Order: sequence, then C-alpha cells, then structure tokens
Amino acid sequence: MNVLLMGLPGAGKGTQAERIAQKYEIPHISTGDMFRAAIKEGTPLGKKAKEYMGSGHLVPDEVTIGIVRERLSKDDCEKGFLLDGFPRTVAQADVLEQMLAEMGRTINYVLNIDVAREELMARLTGRRLCRNCGATYHVIFNPTHVEGMCDKCGGELYQRDDDNEKTVGTRLEVNISQQQPLLDFYQEKGYLCNIDGSQPIDMVFKCIDDIVCNRSNSATTVITNGLKGVTA
Ligand code: AP5
Ligand code: ZN
Repeated sequence: MNVLLMGLPGAGKGTQAERIAQKYEIPHISTGDMFRAAIKEGTPLGKKAKEYMGSGHLVPDEVTIGIVRERLSKDDCEKGFLLDGFPRTVAQADVLEQMLAEMGRTINYVLNIDVAREELMARLTGRRLCRNCGATYHVIFNPTHVEGMCDKCGGELYQRDDDNEKTVGTRLEVNISQQQPLLDFYQEKGYLCNIDGSQPIDMVFKCIDDIVCNRSNSATTVITNGLKGVTA
C-alpha cells in the first residue's frame, strides 16, 4: 500500500502517520523528520536544510527529491510506504510519478487532511514532542498526563525550533501558495481524498481508516474524489 499524506503545516500529518504506519505496518517517511535528523547529525544535507527550515521556507526540490529517491529504494519500502510531507510542489509530484513508474509501483491513496488556516497557528505553537521517542502532543488539544513528560516513555518534551509564531506564519504562507496546484494535480489523476482534519484526532484516524479499508460511508466527514487504485 503506497500512501501520500498531505496537508498544511499543523494539519495533523505526523499525528495520523504514526497511527497509519502502526496499523498498516508500512514505513512512515517524513521529509521533515529526515531533514531534522540530518541537522542533528550536522551532515552537509542538514546544513543545507537548516538554511531554509529555520526561516520556514521549502528546501529546494533537487535536495528533497534526492533524499526521497534514496529512502524509497530501501528494502522496507517493498511492502509499501507512507510519505508524509512529500510531495509539496508539483515539480516534486512529477518526479515522484517518474520514480514510481521506474519502480513499477503506483500510488494507492493521496490523503489530504484539510484544516482551516485559523486553527493551524494554535496547533503549531502549542505542539510539544518527546525528545526520546518522537511522540507528538499538544498543550491543550492532546496534553500529556504529567506536564512536560511523555506518556509513552517518560521522555522530556520540547518545542520544535520552527514552531514559533513568526516562522509558523511563513510556513503557512509558503505551503498555502503551493497547495492548490498540487491538489489539482492529484484531483485530475483521481487519487485525491479530502479528510476533515478539524475533528478530534481519533475521528480523523477513523475517516482515514475507513478510506483505506475501502468502507468509507460518511458523506458528512469524508469527501472522496474519484478514488482510484484502491488495493489495501
Ligand atoms: P515538516 O516537519 O513536514 O512540517 P510541516 O509540514 O510544517 O508539518 P508539521 O510537522 O508541522 O505538522 P503536521 O501536519 O505533521 O502536524 P502534527 O501531526 O504534528 O517539515 C518541516 C520543514 O521541512 C518544512 O517547513 C520545510 O522547510 C522542510 N520540508 C519538509 N518536507 C519538504 C518538502 N517536501 N519539500 C521542501 N521542503 C520540505 O500536529 C500539529 C499539532 O496539532 C500537534 O500538537 C498535535 O498534537 C495537534 N493535532 C493534530 N491533530 C489534531 C486534531 N485533529 N485536533 C487537535 N489537535 C491536533
Ligand atoms: Zn516518548
């Protein structure tokens, strides 16, 4: 099962990806996570990515495409993959099509988590992550039982460098400008499924799960647009 998870910053891609990857046993590939790991390790890729991520801009396509190509060629992607945050431009989407064609693969689902812009600033500035296991929380919408401590492993929580108000503003502008052409690209191909991401986290996952299990029946919460290639 090959899935693309799309949505503006803070829409809930990482939160849902964790659940999808666990249930469907496919690797969760987040370009943002890969860049952050490279920054932490101080690699040349990390140094390059940091220039853009720190200000909320997109890392250049050629850099991003390179790391995705390499990651998709790994053995664990043979049974499928969940791409979170890639593609983010039509140029990236075009290259992904070519890459998958070369691999004899197709996309099964493009899941777009749709949340109004006004909600996203609060989600991002209140986000907290576990330094140890990477779990995602929110100080109001998804708090831990003990403040500052991960429910899953007891690790310390921290705030991402790019989750301050100024950088979030830029991230939203940059991503909004790229979003519509990308959605049109997948709409035309008949892959696009829009999911109402303003619902509680468990409900959003239920909608995704319904689509993936091919038993979507809710006209109120899920709009599927000509879903194609549905093979779970
Ligand atoms: P990346 O790490 O992908 O960041 P992003 O796209 O800005 O998305 P986020 O991770 O911030 O949000 P999310 O949708 O995963 O939300 P989450 O689940 O955490 O990318 C970072 C940077 O890397 C980019 O800015 C760019 O520079 C670079 N980059 C990455 N990919 C690239 C690409 N393809 N091309 C070029 N550059 C690229 O949820 C957010 C918060 O909301 C959490 O606190 C969560 O608990 C809460 N929440 C989640 N769901 C709900 C809900 N339903 N209700 C209430 N709260 C919720
Ligand atoms: Zn943890």
